[in-house]
Amino acid sequence: TSTTTTPTASTAHQHTATVLFAQGLRYEHRADPYPYYEQLLRQPVVRMDDGTWLAGGHREISLLLRDPRISADRLPPPQQRPIRKSLLVEDPPRHDQLRHLVTQQFVPRIMGMRDHIEALVTGLLDAHTSDRPGQLDVVADLAYPLPVTVICELLGVPREDEALFGSLARRLTRGLDPIDTQTEDEIRELQQTRNELQQYLEGLIARHDTAPGDDLLAGLMHSHGPEGPIDPIDLRVTLGLLLIAGHETTVNLIANGTLALLRHPDALARLRTDPDLATPLVEEVLRYDPPVQMSGRSTLADIDLAGTTIPKGSRIRLLLAAGNRDPRRFADPDRFVADRTDNAHLGFGGGIHYCIGATLARAEAQIALTALARRLESPRLVADPPPYRENAILRGPESLPVSFTRLI
Ligand code: HEM
Repeated sequence: TSTTTTPTASTAHQHTATVLFAQGLRYEHRADPYPYYEQLLRQPVVRMDDGTWLAGGHREISLLLRDPRISADRLPPPQQRPIRKSLLVEDPPRHDQLRHLVTQQFVPRIMGMRDHIEALVTGLLDAHTSDRPGQLDVVADLAYPLPVTVICELLGVPREDEALFGSLARRLTRGLDPIDTQTEDEIRELQQTRNELQQYLEGLIARHDTAPGDDLLAGLMHSHGPEGPIDPIDLRVTLGLLLIAGHETTVNLIANGTLALLRHPDALARLRTDPDLATPLVEEVLRYDPPVQMSGRSTLADIDLAGTTIPKGSRIRLLLAAGNRDPRRFADPDRFVADRTDNAHLGFGGGIHYCIGATLARAEAQIALTALARRLESPRLVADPPPYRENAILRGPESLPVSFTRLI
């Protein structure tokens, strides 16, 4: 077992893991990084050559996500540190206070949204298929505009700003990728984009000040936590987090789900006649091909795990997508099983940072995938694999052209 490895053996493991992880991140492997993750899983927790750590085991990731000796601060290099941290990278007690303010506003607003989401999906499919009969780009025509419209409506971003905001969001998510995969120009451009976003959000907040509505932004502006009203910087940072999370994640869930359905015609045929399948099916997409491939943490104390000790002050990558295919947790992990039960995937994380938007994202994906299955007759992938976006962490197709014989 790995508990008794000699220093030389562990250095060799370390180097192998470093190489495998780098391979998995390479753009040419974007369509299928999973074989690299599978090999990484031989060691559920491993130190890398640069001194950072990688956790890929399902059990180990789950434990780390719930360990109070872990901080959500990912310790980015000093030049990239924001002035104020969002709740995503904040620890208790500030994390819990901010999260409470958001959930108070978010949860009641997403209840009863299913009918509206259905109407948006119907409208998007009708609009795009009528000007281009026979072909649809599932990303541009459905998977991207649906969550964008929903989150902008929820938050109170005017429709005419959606395009501007969308381009900011796309550019910003690239900044989430490991720093050593970004060029200096990209890092500089990122700072510029952050400034543009800050200005945009400040303008949006100022306009809300003079003309308050009953959207989530208005709710947040006037909400009171135990610490009193939310301060203006927290408000801006939280708004930015929600907008980006709402723009750049659900798109991949819908696109990865479409891809899985088109590669598994039996599941597609079943979904067409059994809409109840949508619930377990979306969970399986979140396991099999998760939109958020990894997350990060740092240690506040030495942590003994999987026969090794992660020292205090270490940076850890949590490879959620690998944990989702851990054979120690899931039977037949590399098979897409549309009605899989006992599916405790890590697609939305876990512990105190568990995704706030999970219910919303699930509803959007269930409705969009069911509509695609029902309305497209004989759908086929135009390219398999499709072209992928550059992003390694928020991973998904750049476009997903699908041909069909008729729109029902
Ligand atoms: C956190 C995934 C959609 C808002 C997270 C985390 C994951 C995740 C993995 C945990 C990150 C960590 O622990 O480091 C996803 C996926 C989505 C999705 C796969 C779509 C398929 C959304 C949407 C929103 C949202 C639509 C809101 C509009 C958030 C927020 C957090 C979060 C605010 C931080 C929670 C905290 O730190 O306490 N999400 N997300 N997400 N998500 Fe999502």
